[in-house]
Formats: sequence, C-alpha cells, structure tokens
Amino acid sequence: MQSKSGIPGALAGRDRPSCWSRFRWSLLLLGAVACLGACTKARRSRATVQERMLDEFTGSYPVSARPNGTVRTFDVVAAPARVSLAGGVATDVWAYNGQVPGPQLRVRLGETVRVRFTNRLPQATTIHWHGVRLPNDMDGVPTDKRPAIEPGGTFVYEFTPKDAGTFWYHPHHRSSEQVERGLYGVLIVEDAALPAYQQDVVWILDDWLLTPDQQVEPSFNTMHDLMHDGRWGNVITVNGRTDTVLAASPGSRVRLRLLNAANGRVFTPDFGSLQPRVIAMDGMYGRQPVPLGRAEIAPGNRMDLDITFPAAVALDVPVIDRYWAPSPNPLARIRVDGDPVRTPGFPAPARAHVPSYREGLKAPVATEFILNARRGGAFGIEWTINGHAFPDHAHVPLALGRWSRLRFTNVSARIHPIHLHGMFFHVLARNDAPVDEPFFRDTVLVHGKEIVDVGVVPLDAGDWMMHCHILEHAEAGMMTMLDVH
Ligand code: C2O
Ligand code: CU
Repeated sequence: MQSKSGIPGALAGRDRPSCWSRFRWSLLLLGAVACLGACTKARRSRATVQERMLDEFTGSYPVSARPNGTVRTFDVVAAPARVSLAGGVATDVWAYNGQVPGPQLRVRLGETVRVRFTNRLPQATTIHWHGVRLPNDMDGVPTDKRPAIEPGGTFVYEFTPKDAGTFWYHPHHRSSEQVERGLYGVLIVEDAALPAYQQDVVWILDDWLLTPDQQVEPSFNTMHDLMHDGRWGNVITVNGRTDTVLAASPGSRVRLRLLNAANGRVFTPDFGSLQPRVIAMDGMYGRQPVPLGRAEIAPGNRMDLDITFPAAVALDVPVIDRYWAPSPNPLARIRVDGDPVRTPGFPAPARAHVPSYREGLKAPVATEFILNARRGGAFGIEWTINGHAFPDHAHVPLALGRWSRLRFTNVSARIHPIHLHGMFFHVLARNDAPVDEPFFRDTVLVHGKEIVDVGVVPLDAGDWMMHCHILEHAEAGMMTMLDVH
C-alpha cells in the first residue's frame, strides 16, 4: 500500500534560501505538520470501520511482484500414465509428467515462473495456480476469451509470484474428474533468505476411490457424492503412495508442508507425541507459530509445520487422520533415528504483520453468500450460491484495495470449504463468535449450518473465482465470480 502521509519535497528549490526566507519556510512547515497531524487525527476518528480495518491491513503483504529478472522454465505435460499407488499394483491415472503428484516446482521469491504446458489428455484442461496472486488471465480459469486447452494443445503460463509459500496447481476444468485421476502438484515459492531447517518436506494428502482391481472408479459426480461431501475414497495416499516415511535425525528441525489435494475429504492429522507448530496457513506465514492442535485441513488448504524432534530418543510415530473419530486413517510415518544433531535455534518464520480486525464485526456485511442445494440440473442436484448454480451466476463486485466484510451462510447440512482466487482473507467470526486466527487464508471450511464472516482486502484487479473446493459441489454449481475493480 502506498503511504498516506509524507511531506512533499517543497524545499528542493534551486536557489539557496536567505536566512529570513528559511525562517519563513520553517514556520510554514511547522504549521503544515501541525495541521496534518490534527487533520489525520480528525480523519481517524471520523473514519469508518472499513477505513480503520484497511489501515490495520496495510503492510500485511506486497501490492506488486518484484521480478528479479530470472525466469525459471518448466515443461509440464498432462497425459494418461500408469503408477503404483498401493501394494505394487499398477493404477491407470492422469498425471503431470507421468508422476503423481506432479513435479515439485520450486522457485525463489522474485523469480518468474514460466510453464510450457502441453495437454495430451483425452479432454480439454487448464492449470490453475491455487493461492498464487498473479495476473487474472494466468489463473487457469476457462473464460470465453481464454478457453480451456484442447487435447493436443499447448499454453505458456507465466507469472512472478508476489508471496513466498506453499502453493499448488491443478486443473480448473472438469476438476472433479481430472484432480481425482491424479492431476495435482505443489508449487513452492522459497523466501529470498531460506530459514535453516534441516529438511523441507512436502506431504500431499489425497484419497482415491479405487475398484477391487485398484483402478480409479470411473463414475464421477454420482448422486451419492453430490448429496454428501463429494467423493471420498477408500485408499489414502501421501505423495501418491500408502507407505510414505519421513526419516529424520534426533534433534533435527523440519519444515513439513501439508497440502490437501482430495476432492472432498478433510484431514485432521494427529502427530502423537510430536509437537508440531503451524507456521503458515494456505501458503502465508502466520503472526506467530501456534500449536497444531486438532486442526482441520480441508480440500485446497495448505499448512506448514515446524517440528523439532527430541534429541534423546529414537521414535517411530504413525501420523493418523482423526477427522472422523470413529474411523482413524493412518497417513504416513515419521522415523527418528541415527546420530543426534544440533537443533538449529532460529526463530520460526513469521509475518511481521497480520491484522486481527477486532472491530471488523462492527462493519456491515458487504455481501452475504447463501450456500444451499436444490433438485435439478445436469446431475439431478445443484449446489447454489444465493440461489444461482454456475454457470448461471451473478457477478459480485468487490472493491479493489478496500476492506470488505463477507459472510458465508451455510443453509445446508454439508460442509463447504470456500476458496477465493486472487486474494487472502482473515476469518472474523464463526456463528457470530469472534475468531482471531493469527493468519490469512485462501480457503475456509464452512461446516454444516455454520455462518462464517471474513474480512478481505483484494489487492489484485480481475474477475476472480469463488467456489466450494469440494470439487463435486463446484461441478454441480457452487461457483461464482468476484469482480475486483
Ligand atoms: Cu484449488 Cu479454484 O481452486
Ligand atoms: Cu461444498
């Protein structure tokens, strides 16, 4: 944000001012400063809640990217492939560069990402860069002007990320089928100065609905999936396998980046005796690290953990998903073994400024989104936002560079992880009870019958998608557009 005060360079005259005129100038300047102070004070007390919230937001994250001239080029091909997900049996999938997850794209903050993409799928597709603030036409949402990439087609995505963190990429066309078949990968934007973790590990959580012969169950968007919380699978993988192990030395300190790439399943990982701290949510560092607790990682969410392993003992810890308590799911293992190493003592990375918007609930709701379902449409059931099912939808205007309070009112009994493209928001309240999470988000889980209020300052102009990240709900209509101008 540009600074609001600042005294213009009125004294930058070419001639040397005389003593008297210098004195006069100082008087004038003094007067001006006094007036400015008084005026600012008056303005502050007269300012609306929205203006005060905008003041509080200011400085949270940059308005624009700072490209350093380095371009990192990646070749990415989406095509059918055969991989081994579980028990050594081959499963036919759709994959980026023949692997599930797709290649890990890692760049430094300031570098420009160039992805030369080729579609060798039997369907049109796009790549969406989930969580990355980028030019609107690089967002991978099919539009009339920029339709999805047909089979055999190519496209070059190019953008310079504005934020460091854990992001991901996936199709934004027929996503409920394409993501489910294996099209997803992580994009890591590293800080300009790397924190001194001994390991930086990514765990991409996903679940698959497989037939008895380990093939992807080919019926998508079923009535059952649509009436419930999307397609929940019978095989859970971490990084595309069921036997993922993180091996670490005693005393070492690890950054573990979690991403939920499932169509509908929510994960609540339990790390047993370990004590992970959350340092980033949806890519963005928090105000300070917080204990993981019983955190829910909904589809689309990322969560970066800072874990220090005990120095004295060898451990073999199963990490277990306990989202639905009666049926815990083993996810992966952490094995701590070998010679102890010295624990690096650096402070966990944090964002200097994350607003709390304590007063935000005093502002009127700018837009309320009623989340509901009804019979009808191509699948027999439609998921609606304010009574509209995409592609029939009302564009919602949202003021660029201003603070707005949005409300998600879930009339239905199902869950909806609501994702906004192109911006980050801060949760204000759940069911009117104030919430102060020490971080921003791009995806918030709205539980059955719940009302969630958020505060948002969009810094990037464009028509940005807002949708449920349960991909079957999105496919059956729960999508709309926020027009930020
Ligand atoms: Cu991760 Cu619009 O999606
Ligand atoms: Cu939903």
